Amino acid sequence: MRITVIGCGYVGLVTGTCLAEVGHQVVCTDNDRERISSLKAGVVPIYEPHLDALLASNMRENRLSFTDDAAEAVRSGDAIFICVGTPPKENGEADLSAIDNVARLIATEAHSSKLVIEKSTVPAQTGQQLKRALSVYRRHPAVEFRVASNPEFLREGTAVEDFLHPDRVVLGVEDEKSEKELREIYHPILEATAEKTNFRCPVHLSGCPPAKSAQLVVTTINSAELIKHASNSFLALKISYANMIADLCEKVGADVQEVVHAMGLDPRIGRQFLNAGLGFGGFCLPKDVQAFVRLAEHSGVNFNMLREAEHVNKRRIDLFTEKIRQALWVIKDKQIGILGLAFKANTDDIRFAPSLEVIRRLLAEGAHLRAYDQEAMDKTAAIFPQVRFCREPYDVARDADALLILTEWPEFRQLDWSLIYDKMSRPLILDGRNLLNPQAMTQLGFEYHCFGRPQEKPLPQFLPAPVLRASSAIAQQA
Ligand code: UGA
Repeated sequence: MRITVIGCGYVGLVTGTCLAEVGHQVVCTDNDRERISSLKAGVVPIYEPHLDALLASNMRENRLSFTDDAAEAVRSGDAIFICVGTPPKENGEADLSAIDNVARLIATEAHSSKLVIEKSTVPAQTGQQLKRALSVYRRHPAVEFRVASNPEFLREGTAVEDFLHPDRVVLGVEDEKSEKELREIYHPILEATAEKTNFRCPVHLSGCPPAKSAQLVVTTINSAELIKHASNSFLALKISYANMIADLCEKVGADVQEVVHAMGLDPRIGRQFLNAGLGFGGFCLPKDVQAFVRLAEHSGVNFNMLREAEHVNKRRIDLFTEKIRQALWVIKDKQIGILGLAFKANTDDIRFAPSLEVIRRLLAEGAHLRAYDQEAMDKTAAIFPQVRFCREPYDVARDADALLILTEWPEFRQLDWSLIYDKMSRPLILDGRNLLNPQAMTQLGFEYHCFGRPQEKPLPQFLPAPVLRASSAIAQQA
């Protein structure tokens, strides 16, 4: 099918590239001209595993192209995926102005009938508004617009894999023709999981787990829109629940890892999204919870439960800074090393990352910071030029009074922690992601703090006593 994708952010780029990969003819457009010109040159502006290789091969094979001529892009597709941003407004509601602009663009520029598909995350009933805008601004009376909702469930860092091996594909439709067309669009992906087509997933070939069998769920447009917000909000609730369990574990001397492990063995609960720590960040969960609360409010439904999940999440940063203060006493002039800046592992995205607020608070208190992240240093440097960014994770430990872990990059587990111990001025770790093994760290001689796990006492009698060196700030004063 000929497909147009409007919006070349995470969702649009992954959607456009993967739809081209399964054989459709895809044109992508965006009102950011610079972004389009770099994409035309094959440069992907975000870090997302597999995306650059897939984008390049599909451009080479002429199935995927980019244009800054939005009118031309609208005319070229039979189906148009709207993948523009829906950021939060001051009051937490989703800002739908980009969707409105796209609706007007499609209505005025389309010369033939189109299936217009909402892929962006939008509150329930947006589809009705979209239909109205398309009909109000329609320039050619003979042109018909059908609207559908097809929410994405892509996780940053595994978005290509999620698109090509989905758990579920949700189609919110109002007419048979739209359903038929959407089924056709997703046919190669749905059938690939059943091994009925020639399509072979390139991600699969390069080592991702075997294809899952995806469920196709056909619903009304309102339900499809709600499914997306309800899913993300539930994930947020789950994380906040685990964080409250962690706080309780600290008080009663239990271990949150043991508790959530056993809870997760119940298939009705499941182990995923029960990791306690600094809480959820990113551009989806925080904003979707807020938008869902606002939607409930407008609809006269009291969803205070979600507000509480939001509060619990905000308090994680307070608790963490309090742990830092308790351990360091005075933060001013302390050398603090930071491992991890991205809002989660396998992405360079720092939007609403807990690391940003932690850094802001430490700088405000006069700490000297060094930081390392596999992918997110450039973006963080643009916000915090005062922080020293290191090429090597070990460099953040040099003369540090404390080392913080702010992102759950699994690579941090594999670091040579004895080497880090030797480099630090004071062997103190504050693990905001419960990533490391407390016993192992304590046995190495570290003072180790995390969330919801019993505090181990360091065992210096079995090890050479840690050499407590003066921090460089004190050394300078001397
Ligand atoms: C989220 C959803 O997981 C996707 O299903 C959805 O499609 C996407 O939003 C979206 O709306 O587009 P994503 O934003 O990539 O995906 O991030 P998550 O993997 O959900 O992680 C969100 C945050 O929760 C991260 O900061 C992560 O560190 C944190 N987290 C996650 C925890 O603190 N504990 C956990 O157990 C899991």
